[in-house]
Amino acid sequence: MKASKRLDQISPYLFAEISRKIAEKKAAGIDVISLGIGDPDRPTPALIVEAAQEAIADPSTHQYPSNRGRPEFLTAVSDFYARRFDVTLDPATEVMAAIGAKECIFNLNLAFLDPGDLALASDPGYPVYTGGPLIAGAQAHLMALVPQLGFAPDLTAIDDATAKRAKLMFLNYPNNPTGAVVPDGLFEEVVAFARHHDILVVHDNAYSETCYDGYRAPSFLATPGAKEVGVEVFSLSKGYNMTGWRCAAIVGNAEAIDIYWRLKSNIDSGNFDAVQLAGAAALSPDGDFEVASMNELYRRRRDLVCDVLRAGGVDVTAPKATIYVWAPVPPGFESSAAFCEYVLEEASVVITPGGAYGPNGEGFFRISLTTPDDRLREAVARLGALASPA
Ligand SMILES: Cc1ncc(COP(=O)(O)O)c(C=O)c1O
Repeated sequence: MKASKRLDQISPYLFAEISRKIAEKKAAGIDVISLGIGDPDRPTPALIVEAAQEAIADPSTHQYPSNRGRPEFLTAVSDFYARRFDVTLDPATEVMAAIGAKECIFNLNLAFLDPGDLALASDPGYPVYTGGPLIAGAQAHLMALVPQLGFAPDLTAIDDATAKRAKLMFLNYPNNPTGAVVPDGLFEEVVAFARHHDILVVHDNAYSETCYDGYRAPSFLATPGAKEVGVEVFSLSKGYNMTGWRCAAIVGNAEAIDIYWRLKSNIDSGNFDAVQLAGAAALSPDGDFEVASMNELYRRRRDLVCDVLRAGGVDVTAPKATIYVWAPVPPGFESSAAFCEYVLEEASVVITPGGAYGPNGEGFFRISLTTPDDRLREAVARLGALASPA
């Protein structure tokens, strides 16, 4: 059987490859601890589960959902954006439900790109920013996130010919994989750039709720002019421990959302109404307490990981947000993959090579904080022992 040429352009999805390696080791009877995937280990909070249970018992949730989203969910997203980000959204035209941020980001490529077009993609970045354009028959142009600029892209490095072909720009703060928060002034610069070059900005807001040390991540849409040039994809996956539920929303520019809706109505039939009602419960003020207690748990884990890395001589900056610690590969390894393979072989701990997120991730590795405390403690003990052999 032959896959399409478009599909063949994409290397196997990063986490599929990691899962294969873990399975191999486990089959050999080895106790492997994965700090690889960013999938919250704690259950979805009871208030959300209970809302879903009630919603499932309600026959009004049993039929095809509206592809734009259930009114209760659209209003909950709009209320949440007003309360949390001071951003005003019309639930009828500026909010739409999505079956997870991944679906939404991928489908935006199909909705806006033609062959010959470009999407400007943060590098390192979530793999869909580069795979999506290829499957849409277009291409991704990598925008290096520069450590010295706080992991911002240097927009002045994008030449006019490239900017002219670009139809989309993918940005993501708080950022996966670097853990960076948006540098001051970047969103303003992006709005001006997008306006000048007629580019739709897609701000992937998957991590805004996971913040530490008093930091509160802003919405891109709070930037003056952002709604004219952009959309934001907000996901409940990480902040509310809902990765399995597939609950997200696209918010912002009404015209762009309408085009996405036209595409989506040809592809899927919306997300289960009960999931949307659960999402509405999550976004109510009652959900804030759950988010805060999860963040306290991740903060402790973050500090544990950073302390062990520092004791081993790794120069790591504790992230102000996200569920990831991003750190430089120690000297003596030819690549981030070589270092991660060494860690897997010697400590049976899975960490992710930065190079897997794009060429500019090379030289770094990523540790996810979504492993239960006892396993994380065991993993960092193994890493500590690796760093200081007896
Ligand atoms: C930056 C980023 N965007 C989107 C997603 C996927 O979110 P969702 O579960 O809503 O599809 C992830 C998941 O790891 C992510 O890291």
